[in-house]
Amino acid sequence: MKQLLLTLGLLASLSAPGLAPEGVAATTARGVHKAPYGKLPDGTAVDQYTLVNANGLTAKIITYGALMTEFHVPDRYGTLGDVVLGFDNLDQYVKGHPYFGATIGRVGNRIAKGKFTLDGKTYTLACNDGPNHLHGGIRGFDKVVWTAQPVKAKDGVAVRFTYVSPDGEEGYPGTLTATVVYTLTDANELRLDYTAKTDKATPVNLTNHSYWNLAGEGDILNHVLHFNADDYTPVDDTLIPTGQIAPVKGTVMDFTQPKTIGSRLLELNNSPRGYDHNYVLNGKAGKLRPAVSVYDRTSGRLLEILTDQPGVQFYSGNFLDGTLKGKRGAVYHQYHGFCLETQHYPDSANQPAFPSTILRPGKTYRTTTVHRFSVQSTRAPGATW
Ligand code: BGC
Repeated sequence: MKQLLLTLGLLASLSAPGLAPEGVAATTARGVHKAPYGKLPDGTAVDQYTLVNANGLTAKIITYGALMTEFHVPDRYGTLGDVVLGFDNLDQYVKGHPYFGATIGRVGNRIAKGKFTLDGKTYTLACNDGPNHLHGGIRGFDKVVWTAQPVKAKDGVAVRFTYVSPDGEEGYPGTLTATVVYTLTDANELRLDYTAKTDKATPVNLTNHSYWNLAGEGDILNHVLHFNADDYTPVDDTLIPTGQIAPVKGTVMDFTQPKTIGSRLLELNNSPRGYDHNYVLNGKAGKLRPAVSVYDRTSGRLLEILTDQPGVQFYSGNFLDGTLKGKRGAVYHQYHGFCLETQHYPDSANQPAFPSTILRPGKTYRTTTVHRFSVQSTRAPGATW
């Protein structure tokens, strides 16, 4: 029955206007499918890799920014829908955007004043976010072309993306070879496995910046969020942590019990208003453990994120302002997508009390984040929402 619903859903989604229109026949078979995606202004070719699992779930990733442009998952009736924000073509990505779907590096999140000192030497990075350095700088890993190679996965289909960041790029020390393997498992998980190696000590903090919208459109204020985090890192007005680790209990930051994203958002006093905070995950970093889940009651889609990272930046799309025209004619207004960036805490390079982001030669940086998708036919059993 489930299979039948899924098949019907798949057929419905293929014939629905706007959904998966291009190259459908070529890309619905389980496997990895490669197609040209366009050319950068300097002529560099960009490819798109389409991963399809045994249930028809589909992830599309381009070599520009190792960036996920589309992710199609079923709703509670088995109908596939695209649940990430993005554009229809390469030109729009190149014109500039707030990191839709991108792989972020060399260091995700902020470094105060674009400066840090390592082994007695002070390094200066580009400041591309007011007084601070954000998401790897002016030309971070989201704006470079990665090489790609389909790889074998025992539980699904997978592609490995590799980027070699030269010594001194954006001010960072050392040649860094970074990889991210996107695996779409037959258990309906999107797993991101990252590695990095360097020839000089350098900070590293890789993450993915997908904007999720489990309903596929509209605002995400009614999505129900549940964090496995009792604490967060309070920030100053440029979003740099004060160094404090503060309990969320009873505050607007508290998602230790499931509640809608919008339920207390108006109590925040930042500008533009919204969540843009790092949660300190419960449990031991270095071990894959449940971090956060999000449920959309209208579609029934449930996303559970597991990670071995110490933190997650929860960003509620505060800076989206209706100026970006997205896929299939969508207009992205404030709160039309949320990001859950599994990561080390912001400004770790300057905060000795935070878990270290320093990678040294001879060591391998490794981290894994799993996005597990399922549906609930009704509300969760025992749920109070
Ligand atoms: C940051 C936001 C920023 C956004 C980029 C998030 O990771 O925390 O402050 O605006 O990325 O669009």
